[in-house]
Formats: sequence, structure tokens, C-alpha cells
Amino acid sequence: MSKILGIGNAVLDIILTVDHHPEEDEELRAQNKQIATGGNVNNTLYVLNQLGHSSDICTTIAADSESKQLLSGLKERNISTEHTQKFIKGRTPSSYVTLNAQNGHRTIVHYRDLPEVSFDFFAKIEIEEYDWLHFEGRNTTQLPGMLNIAKTFLTHQPISLEVEKPRDGIETLFPNVNLIIFSHHYAKAKGFSDGQALLESLELPNANTVCTWGSDGVWFKAINSDVEHINAEKVSPVIDTLGAGDTFNAGLIHSLISKHSLKEAVIYANKLAAKKCQQPGLDNLMAEQESNKALANIKQLSNAKTMVVNRDSGQSLVLIKYEESVRCYVNNCPHQDVPLDEAYKIDVNPFEKTMKCSVHDAYFNIEDGVCIDGPCWDESLQSIDVKVDENGDIFIV
Ligand code: FRU
Repeated sequence: MSKILGIGNAVLDIILTVDHHPEEDEELRAQNKQIATGGNVNNTLYVLNQLGHSSDICTTIAADSESKQLLSGLKERNISTEHTQKFIKGRTPSSYVTLNAQNGHRTIVHYRDLPEVSFDFFAKIEIEEYDWLHFEGRNTTQLPGMLNIAKTFLTHQPISLEVEKPRDGIETLFPNVNLIIFSHHYAKAKGFSDGQALLESLELPNANTVCTWGSDGVWFKAINSDVEHINAEKVSPVIDTLGAGDTFNAGLIHSLISKHSLKEAVIYANKLAAKKCQQPGLDNLMAEQESNKALANIKQLSNAKTMVVNRDSGQSLVLIKYEESVRCYVNNCPHQDVPLDEAYKIDVNPFEKTMKCSVHDAYFNIEDGVCIDGPCWDESLQSIDVKVDENGDIFIV
């Protein structure tokens, strides 16, 4: 476990799920409303906590009523607020987000009227306590000083910087960090048509650099290496993209903390961000979705024996090899709605290619689940489509 300090924004997100993005002048009824704490660094720290680290946020907080909601949200996320700079003037930064239920895309209208963290405030933090510092690339009047002291006082702790948008003076920060994560918005604004061109244009011999490009994948350049690229993960259906970039950053930091290479870290982060897009919000990101879990591995199966898999949902499945492929049936005999292995194990005849319900001796074809002899003759077991991946793991399609 590492201790991570994130420096950036904490925002109150008001998220409305809609069935399409509204046109100007349209009046639209939302399907759902959710209020969550957000902001890039806050989201990244939340995911890092779920990956087993402990995190503190260095941010500014207003004194209005919404700030209480924001602070309790940070507490719920287990992010320490010891280093929050309070302002009497100004209001809690808020994002009004429409989340399109058709494609998971989010549209953000952001409001902010609050000063950013000052250099003097940051300078009082004992940054030596932390194993990693992660900065949101904003507040470019104060960040150069912060990075200077971080560089001076930290001997072995990496410093990362997220560069989401072009901002005046942001380039002056680059030489003082070890990892820079660029978004395609920044690259495009600087006139680059892909991440390769951006990363090749930079002269940063001491930094790992990464550029994410949505469905075009991710480019990355490790120190003293050439630019490499990986494809975007295929995600279907996309449920919610809000915070996917922040999740990517967390995955990258986590994997690098675990001493993986930049390439391994990018691959891991890419997968984690894809996983995030398949679920609403950021809660329970590490919980394995049952639908994504392998039922078994083909090596565990044979043509002469069934394997019964009991799923978390309570569903029981029967797996068996048929020739070189796999058959999967719901473990339920159509005769009396009982599991096929209720009385005893399911007998298999590999020569006849049949299997027998242990309760009243109904024989089923392994190939198609049809009952060819017994009390439910001509009825069928319920078949489930499965696929086998390159490692032999079997998944429900
Ligand atoms: C998502 C997010 C939201 C926040 C907005 C700020 O990446 O951090 O949580 O409201 O972006 O720009």
C-alpha cells in the first residue's frame, strides 16, 4: 500500500441520466438524478483507494452549504481532507452532467468560482510522508512553485501530472515531473493529429509520457524508448464514461507503484478504464462482475464427465465438452424442475454422447440438450451460449 497525495479539484457532480442529449430549448425529463463528489484528482484518488492505497487530497473548499455535501462525499470515499484550504468567499465547484443512457456519453457543464490551492498552503504540507504525488494540470500560476519544492525535497517519490487541456504556462511544468498523462484534447489543441506526433515532439528525457485518445487507443513513451501504441479495449455496452480518464490515471499510477513497466501499466490502466465504462459511477470498481467471470477453464472439462458450476446469482449450470467445443446447460431437468444432479451425479455416456438426469433417468443429447429417452422425451435442457477465450477460459456470451 502506498500513500498518495493528489493536488487538484474537488467538485460536486449533479448527474442526470437522460435518454438523449437535450437540444437547445428542449425540455427533457431525466430518468435518474445522482449527486456525487467528482473532480479528476478526487476520482483518481478514489480509485487508488479501491486498489489498496491510502490517499489525501490537497484542494480548496468553499464555505457554502454544498461544501458540507462535498466534504461528506470525500469522507465516504475515504479520502483524507486534512489538506483542504478553506475559502469564505467563493462557491463549491459544481458540474452539471447529462449522462446519455443510449451510449454512456457524458456532457459536462462546469461552474467554478473558487480560488485554487495557493503555493503557501501547499508548502506547509509534509510531502516527504507520501510515496507518490499526483497533480492535476491546472492552477498554472501556483504549480511551478509546488513542483519546484516537490522536486527539491523528494528524493525517490515519483510525481505525475495530468494534462487534460492546454493552459497558459502548462509546458513549464513538464521538466519537473516523472510521468505526464496527456489527453487528446490537449494534443489536438496543439495541432497534433495523434499521440505519436505529440509524444515525439517533446524533449523530456526524464519523463514517461502517455497520451490517451479514446477509441483510437493510447500512445506511450518510456524513458529512452520509442513511442508505442495499444488499441482501445472494446466495450459493449458503454454504460457511463464519466470518470473513465480519471480511472485510467489511477490504474497507471497503481501499476507503476507495483513496479510494472510503462507498457504493462498502460495495458492495465486501459483495461481498468474500460471496466469503469461498463458500470455506473466509480463505486465497487474492483468487484468482479459475475458476467465477466470465467465459468471454468476448458482444461477442467472432459467428454466423459459433467462439471456443475454454481454461480453467485444462485444459477446452477452444467458444463461438458462436446467434441472440441463446450456445451453449457441450465442445471434443471424439464421433467420435474429439479437439478440434474439432485439424487446423484449426472451419468455421461461418451459413446452415445448422452447424459442422464439422476432423478428419473431422462437421457439428454450432449450436443443439443434434447431428451431422447425418459419421462420428458423430446423436451430440452435450456442451453446457454458460451465462448472459450485464447487461455481456455469459458465465458457466457
Ligand atoms: C470527470 C470529472 C467530473 C467533474 C469534471 C470536472 O472526469 O472529474 O467528476 O465534474 O470532470 O471537469
